Amino acid sequence: MSSLWSEEALAGRAGVVTGAGSGIGRAAARLLVAAGAEVVVADLDREGGEETVARCQGPGRATFFETDIADPDGAQAMVDFALERCGRLDFAYNNAGITAAGIPLAEVSDELWARVIGVDLTGTFNCMRAEIKAMLPRGGGSIVNTASALGLVANAGQSAYITAKHGVVGLTRAAAMDYSAQGIRVNALCPGVIETQMMEDLVRADPDLGQELQRLHPIGRLGLPEEVANAMLWLVSDAASFVTGQAIAVDGAYTTQ
Ligand SMILES: NC(=O)c1ccc[n+]([C@@H]2O[C@H](COP(=O)([O-])OP(=O)(O)OC[C@H]3O[C@@H](n4cnc5c(N)ncnc54)[C@H](O)[C@@H]3O)[C@@H](O)[C@H]2O)c1
Repeated sequence: MSSLWSEEALAGRAGVVTGAGSGIGRAAARLLVAAGAEVVVADLDREGGEETVARCQGPGRATFFETDIADPDGAQAMVDFALERCGRLDFAYNNAGITAAGIPLAEVSDELWARVIGVDLTGTFNCMRAEIKAMLPRGGGSIVNTASALGLVANAGQSAYITAKHGVVGLTRAAAMDYSAQGIRVNALCPGVIETQMMEDLVRADPDLGQELQRLHPIGRLGLPEEVANAMLWLVSDAASFVTGQAIAVDGAYTTQ
């Protein structure tokens, strides 16, 4: 095992990135491929996923797989595809997610609750279960989940999202307890507000929100997808070999205040 970081830190490694058709997932796929990894770019959105594949530059390789991770069969099919295509599953970045903001708890519909929990929390569980089953026979692997700063703290009007992301932190810790001894490290990233499509959608729904969110980050700006992807890259690499069960904020001190 090499503990030193190198540009080819992931040469010969293979894994999946969900929600890789946009935003943080796209930045993650690009970084992984640039570090030498073979990556399954998984997303509901074929156009976005294929665009990500087109933007990836070697030495690694990217392949698109269309799937809905909210469906357990969709998550399993993604892992089966990765095993068939790459012959192994060394890492997984479970990043697909949706959001819903500006709705106080008592106004949340059954449908909205089920959708957000179904994608953000159950979808992450679906992926982890399939990935862990694939990793165990090979002696381990590294799983990173995208939670959120809102997996650690709360704000108003996002009860379903906050519940789901706190759940992702819980799933991460639970899986680390179940599988660390079998060589599977599991960590979560908790990004502050990152400049992606998801963020643009939120600000469109509430124009004052953009400035307010910027003020909430002591670093004085919002984050970039690449800044989250860099933390993911470290976590999936051997450089983070003693790091498991953690929920790591990548948030410009948003949750420090
Ligand atoms: N952008 C932020 O400010 C921010 C902050 C904290 C956490 N996050 C989290 O980061 C992750 C990525 O967010 P982003 O900002 O890059 O969002 P994004 O909307 O740009 O990308 C999300 C991607 O996930 C895909 N997706 C959604 N549902 C899916 C499903 N059921 N199956 C497969 N793919 C699905 C979408 O098609 C899209 O390509 C999410 O989990 C989000 O909650 C984002």
